Amino acid sequence: MQLHFLLPTVALVFLCRVSNTTANGEKSESAIRPGIHQRSIRSTDTDLAQLRALKERASSGGNKCARRIVGYVTQWSLHPFTVKQSLGLTNAIFAFVHMDPSGRLSLPSDQTSKDRLNDLFVARKAHLDQGLNFQVSFAIGGGENSQHFSPVLSSDGGRNLLVNEIARILTQHRFDGVDVDWEFPVVGIASKGKPEDRANYVTFLRDLRAKLGPNRLISVAAASDQYAVAGYDVRNLLRHVDWIGVMSYDFFGAWNSEQGSFVGPNAPLRHAGPSGYSRKQNVDWAVKHYVCSGQDPSKIVMGVPFYGHFWYRTSPSKNADYPLFRVAERLNNGSYGGSASYRELLTEWRLQENPAFEKRWDSRSSTPWAINGKFVLSYEDERSIREKMKYANEYNLGGVMIWSVDQDSADSSLLDTVFETGCSVGAGGGRYKCNPLDGEKRWWTWDEDKKNAGMCGKMAPLYKGFYPVCDPEAPGLSCCGLHGYCGGGEESCACEGCVDYAAHPEKLVEEPVKPTGPVRWHVGYEIAAVDQPRCGPKAPKLPDGTVPICNPDSRSSCCSAAGFCGSGDAYCRCDGCVSYEKPGPIGEKLWYTWDDGVLAARCGPSVPRINGRVPICNPYDPGYHCCSSAGYCGASPEHCACEGCVDYTKRR
Ligand SMILES: *[C@@H]1O[C@H](CO)[C@@H](O)[C@H](O)[C@H]1NC(C)=O
Repeated sequence: MQLHFLLPTVALVFLCRVSNTTANGEKSESAIRPGIHQRSIRSTDTDLAQLRALKERASSGGNKCARRIVGYVTQWSLHPFTVKQSLGLTNAIFAFVHMDPSGRLSLPSDQTSKDRLNDLFVARKAHLDQGLNFQVSFAIGGGENSQHFSPVLSSDGGRNLLVNEIARILTQHRFDGVDVDWEFPVVGIASKGKPEDRANYVTFLRDLRAKLGPNRLISVAAASDQYAVAGYDVRNLLRHVDWIGVMSYDFFGAWNSEQGSFVGPNAPLRHAGPSGYSRKQNVDWAVKHYVCSGQDPSKIVMGVPFYGHFWYRTSPSKNADYPLFRVAERLNNGSYGGSASYRELLTEWRLQENPAFEKRWDSRSSTPWAINGKFVLSYEDERSIREKMKYANEYNLGGVMIWSVDQDSADSSLLDTVFETGCSVGAGGGRYKCNPLDGEKRWWTWDEDKKNAGMCGKMAPLYKGFYPVCDPEAPGLSCCGLHGYCGGGEESCACEGCVDYAAHPEKLVEEPVKPTGPVRWHVGYEIAAVDQPRCGPKAPKLPDGTVPICNPDSRSSCCSAAGFCGSGDAYCRCDGCVSYEKPGPIGEKLWYTWDDGVLAARCGPSVPRINGRVPICNPYDPGYHCCSSAGYCGASPEHCACEGCVDYTKRR
């Protein structure tokens, strides 16, 4: 505790020095180089003793913390960043160094910014003196200053300039690394984006790494929004950066939409909303996306907010079971609400003591919220932070990053919770069920095609040549039901023949993903009618005038005498039935076909094998289902009834 009183005195020493040399920006910047800090830190031996003791007590492993704990310190924070706070971090990031339209960088020159930079370098020096590690990076970009990335990184000249500028700032001011906070490539949002941003970002980071070498830190702060994540080539970005910090917060906030402002948790750990709410608006989805796309959880750092969002005038929730999820009205002065630091919530709002706030816990999102009449607040507390840390441990993530340390309570209760939980718990065995399509879409959506929207399965119109599946993350639409439409609930997810892609994402790529032969069956459900598709001469002809068959890749691969596709003896093994079934695992080639040229209708051990197996004859082909002793498929007694012949119909 005493450290709090001692350190500001230490800091004051430099502040005087800094203000003595503020004749111009460059000089004042050089005054905060760590070398200058040495004397002042050394002058207080009690500090050092306490520092050592604190560090040991806080960690029993201290800097050996298994995960990165990255804290942003904002240039506008009026609260000093203390050495005690730095003890709870492995890395700190100063936000922000300013970028101009050409890509030139400059340190902010206002006194508050200088003070915070001073704090950071004091903390690093204190660590160094103890033989401990604490790295300080600077951030560029952010919500207010990302507008120049896209144009600057579009040209070789601009990219080189920015790379050189970063190297210059790193060297001149002795930072340990840079954090690139481009909000956001491709989708823009804070500024205009374009498709080339995605590749340009990788090229830029590749060049930056080449320039800085392996020992400087390069990190990226990345979007968590379901649309904005498309702007990142995660796997290639990870080749050049030390970590990606996922900004997994601001899923709900007091901003505009046509229906009003949607009220919900700022940083729900997991999907928490009623049906109809996106399953992608939560920490779990965002972090999983980066881990699955990058295949390296040790470089994925999960964002943790030290602040909350609030709304002034909310309507009652339409879902009694989801009281936090509601809509807020816009006030006459144009605002819906705002955000508040945890410190403000405790000191100015007196959240803990004030009886006007009814405090609740949302167990689905693992976050606290508070309500006072129509006023609603979503925030974080020690409990929610602990849950988030457990998650980071469970999935063995690279660590967590905090936006921002200066918003913590005066006694650092959130940061202490992060540090204790993040460093004391070992790695968990949590593994994500990654979507094997890795962002590729193979389902029909309404905006693309109103007629085919929602159709799935083997009888549906092909989507880009694929049998359409269902979006595993679309709420209530992630199962392919018996009727050939994507849906939710028992009838689509739990029935025999239904496919639940949310529970079994591996089925998204289960073979056959494309038709194994020409499409000679009805698609769409007017004639195909999923459970009873039409086939044979009695059925309506295909658009090209030919007689429809049944899809051999489907469960209904036999045509009954009455002209309907189905399975079982009444469709496959009766007088007048035609079977298009395939033996063995669907899609596996077991015999040669006319496509195979001279090998067509060849069989037996004397001809080349197919995937290591002796080729057989098509047991469903009335003219070619037997293999002769000479190795030819046919249906005559020489093929079927001789010594050494094999009749494959008997084996199906
Ligand atoms: C709008 O009104 C709210 C509630 O009265 C108030 O707290 C807030 O500061 C106002 N905002 C502005 C921009 O005036």
